[in-house]
Amino acid sequence: MEAHFPTAFFEGKKVHLGVCGSIAAYKALELLRALCRANLRVTVTLTEAAARFVSPLSFQSLGAERVFTSMFAPAGAAPQDSPLSSPFGHLAPGAEADAFVIAPASATTLARLACGLADDLLAAQALAWSGSLLLAPAMNPRMWNNAATRENCATLARREHIILRPEQGRVACGEEGEGKLPDLRLIYLHCLKALSPGDLSGKKVMLTLGPTREPWDAVRFWSNHSSGRMGAALAVCAWLRGAEVYALCGPVAPWLPPRINRLDVITAADMLFQAEKLWPDMDMGIFTAAVADFAPEPFGDKKFKKSGQEAFSISFFPNPDILCKLGRVKKPGQLIVGFAAESERLEENARHKLDSKNADLMVANLIGVPGSGFSGTCNTALILDRKGRRESLPTMPKSDLAWRILDWLSTL
Ligand code: PMT
Repeated sequence: MEAHFPTAFFEGKKVHLGVCGSIAAYKALELLRALCRANLRVTVTLTEAAARFVSPLSFQSLGAERVFTSMFAPAGAAPQDSPLSSPFGHLAPGAEADAFVIAPASATTLARLACGLADDLLAAQALAWSGSLLLAPAMNPRMWNNAATRENCATLARREHIILRPEQGRVACGEEGEGKLPDLRLIYLHCLKALSPGDLSGKKVMLTLGPTREPWDAVRFWSNHSSGRMGAALAVCAWLRGAEVYALCGPVAPWLPPRINRLDVITAADMLFQAEKLWPDMDMGIFTAAVADFAPEPFGDKKFKKSGQEAFSISFFPNPDILCKLGRVKKPGQLIVGFAAESERLEENARHKLDSKNADLMVANLIGVPGSGFSGTCNTALILDRKGRRESLPTMPKSDLAWRILDWLSTL
């Protein structure tokens, strides 16, 4: 999965993964791997049809703690040979799991769930589960669009189960339409969301992320090395924890789930324009973007020719400081997190930025050293807050740092 998705904080949580008969069943193996990499404990149920596409052994080999395949032991088998090894095993995942996902979910299983039937093991387990199910359907587009399937989905949505719409595209039988298993990244993140604390629900969070790009001539621009990873990690963690998230993304920014409101911008002026529109309605602003402090005096819309040129100079003019401008109009109750990218005197410079920009929290990171700052997947941060507190954090994945920063915000 993507480097900006969190992996810590979910260790030991239990997910039950149901898999239905579909050619997309093999993708459930990839989902299992991602969940296991985040140190989640995963049990699996394969429907009879699913077990024709993928084998229980594949799931066991990739880390599933237990794989259920049928309600009853084969006739004549000893009770300990039962896949459930207890007469009430069909109730076990429902009682023990922290999240229950079915991916791929077939039309038959959706129908069983909508009707409350418990005539196969997966449906019985789902019926004995009291929380929201996460359902990721995959099927032929005509089956998906059939009134029966639509009504079953509407029924399940009314009961507050989460249904991720299948994707548009060419399905295994060659037909085009809506029916492909939703993006695995989305299914994975929704699993994590089901396990997240929800402490930011009801909050609106705006983030700036990535670099800005300041055009000079028809082909060249002024920019920096920001990958947008730090900001994307914060956007994802805030969304997982229940916030309504608005991400103002510079021209380089990683994939974000569609439920995050993403606004793509190019220049510092574009970013400021969007940020000023959103800010009055926000509870928090998190400014990770490496905004170009200066922009070149534009050469124009033609390409600058090198012929006859040896050395030349370009004039630069200052760009607006977005954080500073919004910090000045911050209302009581609004929180601002700034980032300070420094090559020297980290704490002194960051403390100055915290005060001068009217931020509540400043995350300082050194640039030009391994495991910190631009581009990589890890960062090393010093956190300073307006109450005078500080915490020096070791090098860790940007996604884990993002989670820690949000923890800090709740203490302000
Ligand atoms: O994107 P990555 O590759 O993951 O890298 C992450 C990062 C290094 C970009 C990030 O961790 C970081 O440090 N972001 C801030 C970079 C920066 O521009 O720092 P600064 O010290 O120049 O600015 C201080 C603060 O003011 C920042 O919150 C910045 O977003 C904001 N600012 C700065 C200038 C400007 N014109 N407008 C701003 O809003």
